Amino acid sequence: MSILQSRADTLSLCALSDAPDDQALALRDIRNEDGVRANMYTHREIGPEEHRRWLSGVRDDPARRLYLVRYHNTLIGALAFSAIDGTHRRADWAFYLTAAVRGQGLGRALELRALDLAFGSLGLNKLNCEVIAWNTAVIAMHKGFGFIEEGRRRDHVLRDGVFHDVYLLGITAQEWQAIRPAAIKDKTP
Ligand SMILES: CC(C)(COP(=O)(O)OP(=O)(O)OC[C@H]1O[C@@H](n2cnc3c(N)ncnc32)[C@H](O)[C@@H]1OP(=O)(O)O)[C@@H](O)C(=O)NCCC(=O)NCCS
Repeated sequence: MSILQSRADTLSLCALSDAPDDQALALRDIRNEDGVRANMYTHREIGPEEHRRWLSGVRDDPARRLYLVRYHNTLIGALAFSAIDGTHRRADWAFYLTAAVRGQGLGRALELRALDLAFGSLGLNKLNCEVIAWNTAVIAMHKGFGFIEEGRRRDHVLRDGVFHDVYLLGITAQEWQAIRPAAIKDKTP
C-alpha cells in the first residue's frame, strides 16, 4: 500500500450529523486561523453566532455535506461538499487543515479521501472547485490529482483593495479512475 493511501486511511471523516456539538463548534477556531481564512472567500473572522447559523444551515441543506476531519482523535480540519446536484451528479468541494498539521502530507491524504468519497459513496460524476489565484500550491496539488483547469474568473475576489482571479478546476469520475493509481503511487526520490 502506498504511503499516501495509508496516511489517508488514518484520517477519520465524521459527518456533521454524527459529530459531537463541541467539535462542530470547535471547528470555528480552525476556520478563523489566518492561514485558512486568507484562502476563503469570506475572509473576516467568523463569530460564534454566525458559525452556529452556518452549521444549522448545512444540517438543513441536502445539497451540502460537511465532514469534520480527525487525526489520532484530534480535530484537524474540515472537508465540505456543496452545490450537490443529484440530477447532474456534480458538486463543489473545499477543505482546510489547522496550521499545526500542515506540510506533513495530510492535505494530499485528505484530497485522496475527498475524491474517493465523491466518486464512491456520493455517486458523483463530476467534482468542481474554485481556488484563489495566489493559492498556487493548492492549484498544483489539485492538478496532481487530475483536476483540469476549466477556466479562470477574472477579478473575482477583492482583498485589501486588490482584485484577484479565481481558478475553476474540475475532474470527472472517469478521469479519477484513470489517474488514481498514478496519483497515489509513492514518489521515487
Ligand atoms: C490546502 C491544505 C489543506 C493542504 O494541506 P497540507 O497539509 O499543507 O498539504 P500537504 O502537506 O499534503 O502538501 C501538499 C502539497 O502542497 C505543497 N504545499 C503545501 N503548502 C505549501 C506552501 N505554503 N508553499 C508551497 N507548497 C506547499 C506541498 O509541498 C505538497 O507538494 P507535493 O505534493 O509536491 O509534495 C492546507 O494548506 C490548508 O488548509 N490551507 C488553507 C485552506 C486552503 O487553502 N484550502 C484550499 C482551498 S479550499
